Amino acid sequence: MEITSSAPAKVILFGEHSVVYDKLGIAGAVNPRTNITIKENNKLKICLSDYKENITTTFDEISCTLNKIEKLQKERKYQDLKVLSGNRILMIKTVIGKALNKKECRPFELKIKSNIHIGGFGSGSAIFASTAAAVQLFSRQKLDKQKIAEAANLGDTICHGGTPSGIDASAVTYGGYIEFQKSRGLNPIQIKNKLPVVIGITGIPAKTSETVPHVRELKEKNPEKMNKHLNEMHNIAIEGIKNIKKGNMEKVGSLMNENQNHLEQIEVSHSKLEKLISASLNAGALGAKLSGGGGGGIMIALCRPEDQERVAQAIEKAGGTSLITEMGVEGVRKEL
Ligand code: PMV
Repeated sequence: MEITSSAPAKVILFGEHSVVYDKLGIAGAVNPRTNITIKENNKLKICLSDYKENITTTFDEISCTLNKIEKLQKERKYQDLKVLSGNRILMIKTVIGKALNKKECRPFELKIKSNIHIGGFGSGSAIFASTAAAVQLFSRQKLDKQKIAEAANLGDTICHGGTPSGIDASAVTYGGYIEFQKSRGLNPIQIKNKLPVVIGITGIPAKTSETVPHVRELKEKNPEKMNKHLNEMHNIAIEGIKNIKKGNMEKVGSLMNENQNHLEQIEVSHSKLEKLISASLNAGALGAKLSGGGGGGIMIALCRPEDQERVAQAIEKAGGTSLITEMGVEGVRKEL
């Protein structure tokens, strides 16, 4: 038996970082996707094709890894989780452990091939969600999106250094456009018109596992100042969603610019991101901001359709890689 599953990337339109503190976030699923293939094997094997990493493991080891991570999470040992954030195999083992049907432990070989650029696109979440989906199907379970999102979010707990909001895992699992708030969960949004965006890739890896803990530390040191920014980002996201629904794209663009100002104030931006943002605004974008963890990674510019090409060229000229892509694509799925 061979099963292939896939999950898309995501971009955050409003609310990265503030969403970690129970503020509103808005995200959309975008192409490209990750692909996971799983098939019976005489040993339990994990292959990360993109990194040429191959390991053989056991179900006992998977179970020990899961227990260790869940214990660190429960005890809020964020520093210990942050130290593990570079360990790709450990994250995959944790997700497999979470998704596995313990009564159906036949060994398998799991192959991961991701076409998603690393940093800002939720590439980790996409890998975790499609891994969880493949493992569910292989161990004779139905595709259960809630459980997939939970398993993916546990992977993000390591990947984001302790406190993921859950927006990435929800966006790549459910697909489309979502509103997300930690305490209220996700709410799919129906958007009539597609949002014409251009994504700019800085080429500098996003530092989500550093920026999330950095914001946490700044908030501990200066709660008043940080809460002000986080609350304002929440209000911007509320206005953002209202205006997206109304189709008032000029206003959505100016809210994105405001959101970017706050992201700069909470120290998660980067000069290269700001260079690409300025270039796209000068080329006629309605608004632009970083998207995702920041510290590098990607930015997103909202444009009129007729300006997309010009904005993409301006991003390239400023030293970035541009991507005109479709938003609101399907979430995790079994590939035929
Ligand atoms: O860098 P990404 O694509 O993993 O996005 C991180 C989004 C944050 O809001 C910064 C963290 C989170 O868990 O929501």
